[in-house]
Amino acid sequence: MNDDAGTPPLVLATGASTGIGLELARRLAGRGVRLVISARNAARLEEAAGALRDLGAPEVTVVAADLGVPGGAHDLVETLERRGLSPDGLVNNAGAGIAGPFVAAPPERIEAIVRLNVEAPTTLARRLLPAMIARRRGFVLNVASTAAFLPGPGMAVYYATKAFLLSWSEALAEELRGTGVTVTALCPGPTRTEFQRRAGMESTRLMRSRMMATMDAGPVADAALAGLDRRRRVVIPGPANRLGVLAARLMPRTLLLRMVARLNRDT
Ligand SMILES: NC(=O)c1ccc[n+]([C@@H]2O[C@H](COP(=O)([O-])OP(=O)(O)OC[C@H]3O[C@@H](n4cnc5c(N)ncnc54)[C@H](OP(=O)(O)O)[C@@H]3O)[C@@H](O)[C@H]2O)c1
Repeated sequence: MNDDAGTPPLVLATGASTGIGLELARRLAGRGVRLVISARNAARLEEAAGALRDLGAPEVTVVAADLGVPGGAHDLVETLERRGLSPDGLVNNAGAGIAGPFVAAPPERIEAIVRLNVEAPTTLARRLLPAMIARRRGFVLNVASTAAFLPGPGMAVYYATKAFLLSWSEALAEELRGTGVTVTALCPGPTRTEFQRRAGMESTRLMRSRMMATMDAGPVADAALAGLDRRRRVVIPGPANRLGVLAARLMPRTLLLRMVARLNRDT
């Protein structure tokens, strides 16, 4: 894992102050990885950094950044460059959604979600990958969703951003085959984090359904790391989520659209 000089690898993880991102960072810390963690709330990042040091991370750098504003991802890379930090791994985890009809959502909120979920991961990878390829080692872990496999009326932009991440990840993985750098798309299903409250989807049928097998963020992160180790292109944590994706692939599109629209409506 360490380089020729014995230095542990450095991983940049976005959205690592809470939820799935924090659980991923905790597991990387336990492996002795150096970390740069980023999100908007600096106080929560500092708190997370303390916990990650306790878990064994030899170095944790905190960079507060808003990836939903124009130029946010470029600013983050430039901060790393000024500090002489060149990551060997990139975890594109920060993401957000908004529930409700597309035309009811504030335009600026939609723009910020597209920047955060699509533009920022793409920019970060484009700027950080050349150094990883030159060193012939590294990884990109893009946190997509099971939403990537289907259109999502009632949360249309969010689902579409995750479909972008999945498509782009698979294509990039193929382009980078043989370079020593891997690309993995993590596709969790509903997971207990702050995401649902922030997206305003707590009262939807999907979230209230008793049939829904919601996972904790820890097992999702375990599945992600196992997938990274095996150089998997796509990781879907949990058997219920894998079954759901299979069903979505087999179901007629019209039926699927109606079903998802119903699930994304309030009870
Ligand atoms: N939870 C689920 O059910 C679920 C399912 C499938 C996929 N996912 C995906 O998993 C990823 C992590 O989500 P989560 O469930 O862990 O959500 P979460 O608990 O809401 O955490 C989101 C993280 O992203 C950061 N973030 C949010 N907006 C940001 C911005 N504009 N700029 C920079 N950082 C920002 C947050 O910190 P600040 O607010 O301080 O910036 C936080 O660290 C997302 O990509 C999400 O789409 C979640």
